[in-house]
Amino acid sequence: MASQYRTPAGVELTDDLVAEVRKDFPILDRTVNDQPLIYLDTGATSQNPLQVLDAERNYYLGANSAVHRGAHTLAVDATDAFEDARRTVAGFLGAAENELVWTSNATEALNLLAYSLGNASDGIGAEAARAFALKPGDEIITTEQEHHANIIPWQILAARTGATLRYVPVTADGLIDYQAAENIVTERTRVLAFTHVSNVAGSMTDVAFMVQLAERVGALTVLDACQSAPHMQVDVKALGVDFAVFSAHKMLAPTGIGALYGRHELLEALPPFLTGGSMITKVTMTEAEWMPAPIKFEAGTQRVSQAVAWAEAVRYLQHLGMDRVHAWEAHLGQLLAEGVSQIPGVRLLGPSVGQPRAGLVSVHVDGVHPHDVGQLLDQQGIAVRVGHHCAQPLHRALGITASTRASAYIYTSTQDVERFIEELAKVRPYFGYTD
Ligand SMILES: Cc1ncc(COP(=O)(O)O)c(C=O)c1O
Repeated sequence: MASQYRTPAGVELTDDLVAEVRKDFPILDRTVNDQPLIYLDTGATSQNPLQVLDAERNYYLGANSAVHRGAHTLAVDATDAFEDARRTVAGFLGAAENELVWTSNATEALNLLAYSLGNASDGIGAEAARAFALKPGDEIITTEQEHHANIIPWQILAARTGATLRYVPVTADGLIDYQAAENIVTERTRVLAFTHVSNVAGSMTDVAFMVQLAERVGALTVLDACQSAPHMQVDVKALGVDFAVFSAHKMLAPTGIGALYGRHELLEALPPFLTGGSMITKVTMTEAEWMPAPIKFEAGTQRVSQAVAWAEAVRYLQHLGMDRVHAWEAHLGQLLAEGVSQIPGVRLLGPSVGQPRAGLVSVHVDGVHPHDVGQLLDQQGIAVRVGHHCAQPLHRALGITASTRASAYIYTSTQDVERFIEELAKVRPYFGYTD
């Protein structure tokens, strides 16, 4: 219903329209240390518009109940809301509704997948699951650019099955080394897991190239779409990946929910991860039979209000239009990159100025610990992320231990970016550096 939105559909985002968008995000009106809040930490978690908060509240006010269980009216209403939400979110991502498994977040989605592959390797599941079994000599490939969530589950799967975990290295700029990837993906490769947008470098992966490498050798592809789906059109079918993971809280929705996309035939063949109530058709004292996917992967009482709220977040983004969201953020990303790279002693990580980048930059401030950078910025009301951003291998490859990241979204104005650059430029002089 367009009238619930302040911005007209189909127009380019500008600072004037961003000012309208911001009215849906009351938290952005608060002050921090007596300064207006400038929120540049969406890469960690986004803020929620009123429409999303209302959707969650209204669900509790009018339909709260356990789904897929009761025969009473509330239970039916809740189940309808839950499955409608699945259709909306799946549709937004280009998936069919039976191809989207609700999880707690992207981390759980990756763990679910790795654990299920491990279960298949242990002989759990029907005959079709045997095709997933990993063994010594097989290889799982991920990249040096990944968030720990796309590393550690694969380490555990490798340890569990005897398979070898290998990494596509990054270049000196922290970008995926595609040439190296060509040699690393071989007939031994069973899984190729990679991020769509780096949460540190801000670079965008050539998904088509990676998919083609995997297809050549029949390996499964796993896309970490945490930093892409909130900011650009992601169509899992068009991208051609086998699996993809998402976190709702990075795309205007509440915490507590994420999703695993899997091609339907793959989800059908995979054995479950968590087991218990709701995911079964029959249980005896010795064994159980499972529901079809995706319910097979959704054991226990589900996160219904979060699903409903996520669907509302998707509608909000659809109203703005993902192409426009992406164009605005790409513009802000370039402003950020240009601004920080002109500050003496500040090193821009990831793509250089003018190269494609998402709406985020990470920087290394020579001689100043990122926590000190973060504290000085916070004194000015500016919220950024400091530390290793759950990407220690990438930082190590870049020769640093931590960095400072500013990440933009639909509520970020060019003034926010300018204020950040202005205050970042004061950090080294504050610590006595004069170059
Ligand atoms: C690229 C990437 N992958 C995975 C994750 C994990 O997301 P979550 O903590 O919501 O599971 C994040 C979150 O920062 C991320 O940026």
